[in-house]
Amino acid sequence: MNYLAPSILSADFCELGSQIEEIGNAGAQYVHIDVMDGVFVPSISFGMPIVSCIRPRTKLFLDVHMMVTKPERYVEEFVKCGADSVTIHVEASDCVEDTLKKIRSLGAKAGIALNPETPVKEILPYLEMVDMVLVMTVHPGFGGQAYIPECTDKIKEVRAAIKEKKLNVNLEIDGGVNLDNLQMNLDAGANVIVAGSAVFKGNITEKTKAFLDIMEQ
Ligand code: DX5
Ligand code: ZN
Repeated sequence: MNYLAPSILSADFCELGSQIEEIGNAGAQYVHIDVMDGVFVPSISFGMPIVSCIRPRTKLFLDVHMMVTKPERYVEEFVKCGADSVTIHVEASDCVEDTLKKIRSLGAKAGIALNPETPVKEILPYLEMVDMVLVMTVHPGFGGQAYIPECTDKIKEVRAAIKEKKLNVNLEIDGGVNLDNLQMNLDAGANVIVAGSAVFKGNITEKTKAFLDIMEQ
């Protein structure tokens, strides 16, 4: 099954509630929530209070992407605030295994993310401990960047590893995804599609439906 995860990093924060309602009404299944700490990535976005505010406003799946150093410090709080899934970066923690186990023990889905320059082999030891792998297709930190073409092979590599181990793990891609490169990424094996600027800049309902049309084929 494919899922569309619009990234609210590109939303109008003054209209956040209604824009989340709009993506949901148009058929999106996830809300992708980019948490940035200004250390792991150069920029700062938002944190727990945003998740707490969104939770009572929507039934959509809240997909928290932590671009945060030592994410183990905060995973419990994000789950308590209402995250359905918490994804940590393999590069960001010295205790990846314990943190993934902690996320699951709190009742949320656990994800592991890797940056464009990180080899796939770095996440393979954790494949059995996660519900999702997030392959970054840009250098994390900002919305609106161009897709890095070399990442397509990594998507194929991760999908092959999931298949080989016969696991039920979602494969999310994040960064520079648009209507022109979507099909190529689905063909490579991605099934959770993050899109920030390609959904929120312009007519949100039309853009969401255009993504889903391709994803549901
Ligand atoms: C990048 C974030 C992305 C970002 C994607 O660091 O993790 O989720 O919002 O934005 P677009 O789709 O505009 O590249
Ligand atoms: Zn993200």
